[in-house]
Amino acid sequence: MAKILSGKTVSQRIKDELKNETAELKSRGKTTGLAVVLVGDDSASKVYVRNKEKACEDVGIYSEMHKLPEETTERELLDLVDKLNNDDKIDGVLVQLPLPAHLDDSVIINNIRPDKDVDAFHPVNVGKIMIGDYDFLPCTPAGIMELIHESGVSVDGKNCVVIGRSNIVGKPMSMLLLHENGTVTTCHSHTQDLAEITKRADILVAAVGIAKFVKADMVKPGAVVIDVGMDRDENGKLCGDVDFDEVEPIAGAITPVPGGVGPMTVTMLMRNTITASKKHMMGSGN
Ligand code: GUN
Repeated sequence: MAKILSGKTVSQRIKDELKNETAELKSRGKTTGLAVVLVGDDSASKVYVRNKEKACEDVGIYSEMHKLPEETTERELLDLVDKLNNDDKIDGVLVQLPLPAHLDDSVIINNIRPDKDVDAFHPVNVGKIMIGDYDFLPCTPAGIMELIHESGVSVDGKNCVVIGRSNIVGKPMSMLLLHENGTVTTCHSHTQDLAEITKRADILVAAVGIAKFVKADMVKPGAVVIDVGMDRDENGKLCGDVDFDEVEPIAGAITPVPGGVGPMTVTMLMRNTITASKKHMMGSGN
């Protein structure tokens, strides 16, 4: 029986600490503010954005929601980003992805001020993570590291396998594992003999986006298994990239879906926003 790594429990613990930090900042005259921008009507994005709003309430962060219509132009969106970049009430600016197809994600992200880029998607912040000298960690990988720590397994010297190489999860995830001295393999859709590689993993992170993709015969007994998936099974029920029923009996520790990585991502966003707020209080901008 695997240890269940509950993102709900761990994130509640961290949110309690963060609440104290926002209160301490407030007592020194600094409120902490996050602006979230949602363009269009993507239903998953609407849920994520609502969760972010709720988390801000929980930890005492002032939040602003900017909902823009699907047909918003690049100029209009850049003007809003610019306004938020220059708004002293706002410490963090987050533009929810994916954007509608006519808008270029990277043009928008590159225009968020790096010291307000609480997603850590701006090339300056991506570069800092690569070097290991960063202000913000990307939210999902940072949340996963917290869950791995919760498992009690040290990353140092372990075989770590990440399935997925997205800019949001796979690539930065591999980097954070490397920073903790893991021996990291990043797998993707062109990887040959995938199961042979995943079976050697002491720590396995699945970020593929395919429902129940990771089966028992792909997992080393006792491994820490982290499931980043938010998929639907054949009955339309929410599930992860890992076949939980098959894998749980052989894993050492495993995250559930829902209630695993998801709540951690939002909590790490709160942490980054507070980090930005502290820096702004001390007067360090860009
Ligand atoms: N869409 C899916 N995940 C994320 C995230 O972490 N940040 C933003 N901005 N958009 C997302």
